[in-house]
Amino acid sequence: MIVSRTTPAIEAVLLGKRYTHTAQPDEPWAVQGVTLSVMPGELTVLMGPSGSGKTTLLSMLGGLLAPTTGRLNICGERVEHLGEAGRQVFRRRRVGLIFQNYNLLSALTAAENVGVGLALRGGDPAGAADLLRQVGLASKAAAYPHELSGGQRQRVAIARCLAGSPPVLLADEPTAALDAEQGRVVMGLLKRRAREHGSAVVVVTHDARVRGFADRVFEMEDGRLRRIVRRVVRSGPQEVNRVPA
Ligand SMILES: Nc1ncnc2c1ncn2[C@@H]1O[C@H](COP(=O)(O)OP(=O)(O)OP(=O)(O)O)[C@@H](O)[C@H]1O
Ligand SMILES: [Mg+2]
Repeated sequence: MIVSRTTPAIEAVLLGKRYTHTAQPDEPWAVQGVTLSVMPGELTVLMGPSGSGKTTLLSMLGGLLAPTTGRLNICGERVEHLGEAGRQVFRRRRVGLIFQNYNLLSALTAAENVGVGLALRGGDPAGAADLLRQVGLASKAAAYPHELSGGQRQRVAIARCLAGSPPVLLADEPTAALDAEQGRVVMGLLKRRAREHGSAVVVVTHDARVRGFADRVFEMEDGRLRRIVRRVVRSGPQEVNRVPA
């Protein structure tokens, strides 16, 4: 686990991904040369045009996808050379993931889906009800995914990702199916996880309102991190740095 708030929870050095299963011999790099650290307690936002590599980068940070090049250290563990089985073990212990299709188990109720997250990371199974309450779904604990709206499913997935307080929380468009108020609730929860539990949180979004919750905003373009907009903590204007290409 993370021993210090001064050691990065995520450290990527010159990380790159080229999808090799496509028929095109000159398939471009989906992500290239990404060097990035995320500290415990920090909420980082990734923005950028469609196809710029945000989901690919997030998938590598979460151990869903093996990088083609570069080094990746998560919570003190080198993960770039792990095979599928190793990545799965690492993911279960360290990472809470929210993906756009939610990945809820259709045969389980909302509370049971959240319970899976708790069971994987050694949390108290009784905590599912509380997590559902935090995302405004206390009354839907016994509902199955097909009985929920898209936004409600998204919130169950968020509750599951928070279950067991993983040190790394990664979310791909977590507010996409939510109205403005629910979006604020969810971003507030992620921010609190960072502040109070010291989780390192990375959020991919197209939603400009999410920027207000960020400690840092990275913009991606053609697979590269192009710009960092760093919020100066507590006071002062935002500082804007160019990232060396
Ligand atoms: N499984 C895959 N196989 C082959 N190419 C892929 C795969 N997934 C993504 N790509 C390609 O990699 C590039 C980056 O895709 P990615 O999904 O990371 O973009 P994104 O920034 O998340 O876009 P969006 O905002 O539309 O979700 C795109 O050119 C895409 O076509
Ligand atoms: Mg994407």
